[in-house]
Amino acid sequence: MSQGVRGTRDFYPEEMRIRNWLFEHFHSSAKAHGFEEYDAPVLETEELFTRKAGEEITQQLYNFEDKGGRSVALRPEMTPSLARMVMAKAGALAFPIKWYSIPQCWRYERTQRGRGREHYQWNVDIWGTDCIEADAELLSVLVHFFKSVGLDSDDLVIQISSRKVLEEVLGNLGIEGESFSQTCIIVDKMDKLPEESVEAQLAELGHSPDAISTIRDTLSIRDLNGLENSLGKSSSAVSELRSLFTLIEGYGLSDWVSFDASIVRGLAYYTGPVFEVRDRAGNLRAICGGGRYDRLIGTLGGKNLPATGFGFGDMVVMELLQEKGLIPNIGSVVEDVVFGMGSELRGSAMQVAGKLRQSGRNVDLILEDKKMKWIFKHAERCNASRLIMVMPDEWSNGNVKIKDLNTGNESTIPFKEL
Ligand code: HAM
Repeated sequence: MSQGVRGTRDFYPEEMRIRNWLFEHFHSSAKAHGFEEYDAPVLETEELFTRKAGEEITQQLYNFEDKGGRSVALRPEMTPSLARMVMAKAGALAFPIKWYSIPQCWRYERTQRGRGREHYQWNVDIWGTDCIEADAELLSVLVHFFKSVGLDSDDLVIQISSRKVLEEVLGNLGIEGESFSQTCIIVDKMDKLPEESVEAQLAELGHSPDAISTIRDTLSIRDLNGLENSLGKSSSAVSELRSLFTLIEGYGLSDWVSFDASIVRGLAYYTGPVFEVRDRAGNLRAICGGGRYDRLIGTLGGKNLPATGFGFGDMVVMELLQEKGLIPNIGSVVEDVVFGMGSELRGSAMQVAGKLRQSGRNVDLILEDKKMKWIFKHAERCNASRLIMVMPDEWSNGNVKIKDLNTGNESTIPFKEL
């Protein structure tokens, strides 16, 4: 019984400290850009996540019937819950809204490096505007985060494209609507599956060999001039991407980004610019993914509202931070260790600890009789800065003994002055 469910994680205090450190950077990067935090339940109606396009995410759903016979699911991603929340209050919200969250998400995935069956996913989204500035702002949040944890543009690249690229190419071939979403989901697997398998799936969807080769040629384009040559001067995908890259330059983020037509994303709802963050060394799975999704609410039965955002998992970035030696050594929260010599002085030690706690210190009170050697070792383990000793002689004169654990200096000071 000492093992949890496969693909799930326990966080022991030392791991929890690191998780909190990571989350603090998520929080502060979002807040630095004026985003507000929200939350939603991990359990939703299954219906919220069922979509027809054959995405992996819907096949990996943790779904079950609750005791009342309702079909429910653990959220595999936050975006549909966010859409539900926005839809419910659309009339009362002052758009655009900039919201973020760090939900735990559940997917029945094949577990591997950087992929588990649960993960925490930092979500940063802007709703209610279709301006490309919103998409650029998201990239600024991302880079702010990367810089704050010590990663730089030599470590990572934000690969950007737009759903409109394939939309224009496939539109010319008469492929639209559901068939378009399905095509995107299949071509998203190009770097994971053998070429023949992807081509077979595209053929199964009804694409001709010519269409498949046009798709493949388009996806291999890696610069905007090449894209313009392929899609033509009047392409709205090209002009939108050019505007985005101009804004990125304005933000000073050019070193962090590249155009890559192979980025389409594996979720059906994207409609415009899409991006993924990869480690430059190419050893890891995607660190982050997002894009514009202006028509999600419509698929949930509401009135469409433009939206753009990203999801950023906690697992892959930790792998990278570990590789680069960027995870700091974080000590426990304890600042002072207090102990009273013998059971008679335990009440006095509590009084001392109480006073320090009231003044805002984090205090660990030794609860039972322990040898001095153990107490010193314990204080060291906690990384405490002071040891405060309540000893019979000193206490009878109203004093306590303090050892500064950084310098080793000892002093006796009146309890009143603590
Ligand atoms: P996604 O690409 O499915 O997008 O996931 C986003 C990120 O979540 C991935 O890049 C990865 O960091 C992390 N992730 C996903 N699945 C797992 C897993 N099984 N284990 C560990 N990490 C994982 C979405 O979920 C979209 N809803 C993101 C979004 C928000 N788009 C717009 N707003």
